Parts: sequence; C-alpha cells; structure tokens
Amino acid sequence: MTDAKPVLVSGVKPTGDLHIGNYFGAMRQFVELTKSGKYRPFIFVADYHALNSIQDAEEMRRRTQEIVMAYLAVGLDPKEITFFKQSDVPAHTELCWIFDTITTMPYLMRAHAFKDAEAKNREINVGTFNYPMLMAADILLYDAAIVPVGADQKQHIEIARDTAEKFNRIFKADVFTLPEPYIMPDVAVVPGTDGQKMSKSYGNVIPLFAARDELAKCVMGIVTDSGDPSTSSGQVAPQNVYAMHKLVRSEQELESIYNEHRGNYKMLKELLIEDLDRYLAPIRAKYEKLKQNAGLVDEVLANGKTEARAISEAKIEQVRKAIGVA
Ligand code: ADP
Ligand code: TRP
Repeated sequence: MTDAKPVLVSGVKPTGDLHIGNYFGAMRQFVELTKSGKYRPFIFVADYHALNSIQDAEEMRRRTQEIVMAYLAVGLDPKEITFFKQSDVPAHTELCWIFDTITTMPYLMRAHAFKDAEAKNREINVGTFNYPMLMAADILLYDAAIVPVGADQKQHIEIARDTAEKFNRIFKADVFTLPEPYIMPDVAVVPGTDGQKMSKSYGNVIPLFAARDELAKCVMGIVTDSGDPSTSSGQVAPQNVYAMHKLVRSEQELESIYNEHRGNYKMLKELLIEDLDRYLAPIRAKYEKLKQNAGLVDEVLANGKTEARAISEAKIEQVRKAIGVA
C-alpha cells in the first residue's frame, strides 16, 4: 500500500548554474532517497521563496524550467514522485499567513538566515524574514515525516516542528504531523578547479551540463602545483585532480594509475576528462533531450499541480475548520 508510506517533502530553489559539486554533494543522494521506495515523495520548485532574490519574470521562468529539467535529467522519476511548483498550489501561501498570526517576531529573529543577513547590514525584505513560515507551510501541508535537506536548513525544519506543535496546542486540534529533518550525509567536499570548495560564488566550477569541450577546458585549468598525488610512503594522497577523479572511478584503479603516472599531470588530466565525460554524458544527453521538449516539463508540472492541490486542499480545509473560518 503506497499510501501507508511515510511522506517525504523537499523543496529545491530554482537557482541554476548547477555544478558537479552540487551533483555529487547533494543531488545524487537526494534522487537515491526518493528512489529507495521507502517514502511517498513530494518535491517542488520553491519559486515563491526564490522571489526574494529573483525579481525578473524571464529569469524566473527560465530558471524554473532549468531546475526541473536538471532534476529529471539526474534521475527524478515523475511517475514515482509528485513534482510541482510551489506557486501552483495556493494552500502554501494561505497556510503561511495563518502561521504568521501565531508566530512572534522575536522567534523569527532568532533564525540563522535572518541573523546572517542582518549581520551583513542588508536591508531585509519581509519575505526573507518570513522565509521559515512559508517553509513550515510547505512541509506541514503534506504531513511530511522526513524532510531531506542540507545541514544549513536544519533550523528551518525545527521551526516547522515548533509551528506544528504550537498550532495543534492553540487550536486544540491534532492537525499537523511533526516532521523530522533528514540531513543528507556529508559526502566529501568536491574541490573546485582552484582547490577550494567548488562553489558558484568562487568561479571555480565544472558545470554539470558542460559539453566535452568545456569540460576539457575546466579540467586543464585545474591548479596542480599544490601537491603531488602520492605521498612519500607511496600512498596516493588526495589532491585536486585525484579528488575529482575518485568521484567517477574506483580508488583501487586510480591508485595504480596515479602511482604509475606520478607527476604526469597532463596525462592524468586527459584521463580525468575522459572519465568525467563518460560519467556525465548520459545526464547531459537527457538534459538536452528535455530542452528540446519543453512540453514534457509543462506536463510533469501540470500533473504535479493536480496531485498536490488535491492533497493540500484537504489539509487546508482541516485547518480552516480548526481555526473557525469554516
Ligand atoms: P554553491 O556553493 O555553488 O552556491 P549551494 O550552496 O547552492 O552551492 O549548494 C547546494 C547544495 O550542493 C548543498 O546541499 C551543498 O551541500 C551542495 N554542494 C555545493 N557545493 C559543493 C561541493 N563543492 N562539494 C560538495 N557538496 C556541495
Ligand atoms: N529553503 C530550502 C533551501 O534553501 C528550500 C525549501 C523551501 C525547502 N521550502 C522547503 C526544503 C521545504 C525542504 C522543505 O534549500
């Protein structure tokens, strides 16, 4: 009985320019979890959250399309999950408002994201301040049991739990299930081409959907003078090229290759280009295919919208009754 499975909910922000650090560090595990068959997954594009930073209609449309294509390309199966846009399901913002009325300002002022923005002296819009309330609504509408996120989002799940408890207590109704965070296991940090953590803000990335030429250019640009791939004991030690290589080839194989070609960076990089290209080619091909077929993304989102609306409407009706507007 699929209905009896615990619900998994997660949102992905339509911030594009995905790189292989995002893929090996987060997306791959995320897809595996939804495919494990243990959960009933709801995944949505958090476009209303992104509206805090993307304030251009064309960019919003493009990035939304891109993130859906990216997740489909890396293996999310729309037949196994409900995949939708947050903005397509009005119950999210309705429930967010209801949560606003039972939440205090000092409570939200303790959120890390708000404190960080404040520390940077940014002028914060109300949407950013209120971010955790919309996120609580996203999660609680579907009776989520687990919410897979990166470690930086843990506090937001705790806020969702608190809010569920508070609502149930104030309105003396057992409406919401308390969600648990599922912090995705910390895989090793993927280094960028300069040896620092790969990050879109450092300009050191290998784009996830790079064509072979671009891949080659990025790999050839990897800084290699920071260390020898082998330690004095003959052990292969992680360094930039090696650390990236082990994402796509077994360490057992790499150890002998790197020992044999010690110091021959050109040859090792060429092999890395080949291995990366072989690994990424099917993902890239799927992405390109989806790009040629925009109707497919629309179809996935339209199905997701119907499913998510039906479930969230039932929950919001319970909420309306509990607060006395229905
Ligand atoms: P960026 O640093 O490029 O802005 P994000 O902060 O948007 O990336 O990261 C999105 C997800 O990808 C997070 O869960 C993060 O842990 C993972 N991630 C990003 N960069 C790396 C990396 N270099 N190695 C491992 N995981 C990463
Ligand atoms: N805040 C999450 C992030 O920045 C995205 C998100 C929005 C989310 N709503 C969610 C994640 C609900 C999990 C559940 O990555």
